Amino acid sequence: MSWFANLKITTKFNIILSLLLLFVFLAAAFFVYHRERSLIDRIAVDNARSIARQIIETREYISSVVKGEPNENYNLVPQVVATNVAKRLTKGSNYYVRQVSLRYRNPENRPDRFEAEMLGLFASKKIAETYRIVQTGNEQTFRYMLPMVAEKSCLECHGRYEEAPPFVQARFPKGHYSYDYRVGEVIGAVSVSIPLADLYRQAGTNFRNDLAYRGLTFCLIILVMGLLVRRAIIDPIRQVSSSISHVTATGSFGDRIPQRSRDEIGELIAAFNGMMEELDLKTRQRTESEDRYRNVLEMAQSAIVTFLADGKLIITNRRAEEIFGLPKGELLGASIYTFLADGDGVRDGIMAYLRDGTGGLVGETTPRKIRDIRGGITEVEMALSVSSSDHNPLFTAILREHVRR
Ligand code: HEC
Repeated sequence: MSWFANLKITTKFNIILSLLLLFVFLAAAFFVYHRERSLIDRIAVDNARSIARQIIETREYISSVVKGEPNENYNLVPQVVATNVAKRLTKGSNYYVRQVSLRYRNPENRPDRFEAEMLGLFASKKIAETYRIVQTGNEQTFRYMLPMVAEKSCLECHGRYEEAPPFVQARFPKGHYSYDYRVGEVIGAVSVSIPLADLYRQAGTNFRNDLAYRGLTFCLIILVMGLLVRRAIIDPIRQVSSSISHVTATGSFGDRIPQRSRDEIGELIAAFNGMMEELDLKTRQRTESEDRYRNVLEMAQSAIVTFLADGKLIITNRRAEEIFGLPKGELLGASIYTFLADGDGVRDGIMAYLRDGTGGLVGETTPRKIRDIRGGITEVEMALSVSSSDHNPLFTAILREHVRR
């Protein structure tokens, strides 16, 4: 997970948001697909069933009323009437209707593979209707079938050869397999087929367009959210961090970041600006007090020196330069012990102080002799104090002269 933790916030945000949206997108696509599928199935089944029923009713009606008429007019054969009614019903639509039979009279009514299989099913089991999506080539078709059952009126032409009207006998000789049906037997089926593409169009849905719109919307969301996050969060945070780097590099607390909002980021920036203000003020005050201290130091009548435990001088004033007989540049870094007549005693006192915090030297005023660079002696009262920063004790000695020169 560490690689993820090291990514930029924008990248992290985009990854998480994209994954989330992708998930939502796929889930939505899945549900939409299934909803559309079932909607289309329902529409298709409803329509196909209603067409098939109308055709069967038409055929049964004609079959029950025609007597000898088809002898003179073949167009009154129930099958022919039903076929023409079906043609009229489906004119201008994408529904293709056929009436097929395994024992067909007209070769045009020969069932295809799917129809033959379904007819077999109808004949063997009591199935009221079937529908499914069939793949033919690279095209998918919705197919529906409703069986036709022979009733008494049908047997007039589909029963025994001897009882069939002359025009049927003339066309279909004795022994033709289209005779000898019994009442209740499946004699054929109405077969309705609709190309799936047409169905989708009819249902007013286009899955692919739907996906494209959704995808586009999600891309837009990611883009807009990314921009918002960058403007509202990333940019201000980057400004704060670059400002902090600037402070580290230059030591100047002058930077301020414009506050654009009152939200959490706005509060962060306000707090940052406040901190910078405070630090700015503190540093200015410190510089001023340091200046004042330096002035006081220089103006003092006594020599004042600050040195480390090893005696190395780090702060001196004008009077110290006079007593020690060296300019400041040479004095700084020299050891105070070399200028004290009993330097070793003082060193021992300071070491004792460092060891056990006592020694009788620190915090006391003691008479001392200063030996300047030319060997001249100045008698002084030495007041020694200690201050420690970073556990590194600094000793300050005020050397007041007995006898003024
Ligand atoms: C008046 C005679 C007659 C009657 C009554 C009749 N049929 Fe037919 N039927 C025919 C003829 C003739 C054909 C062939 C039509 C063609 O040439 O397209 C046929 C064809 C069919 C077909 C198409 C398959 C094939 O054989 O080509 C089916 C299915 C069918 N009849 C079912 C029925 C049913 C069900 C009934 C009763 C409701 C019925 N018929 C009543 C004469 C009849």
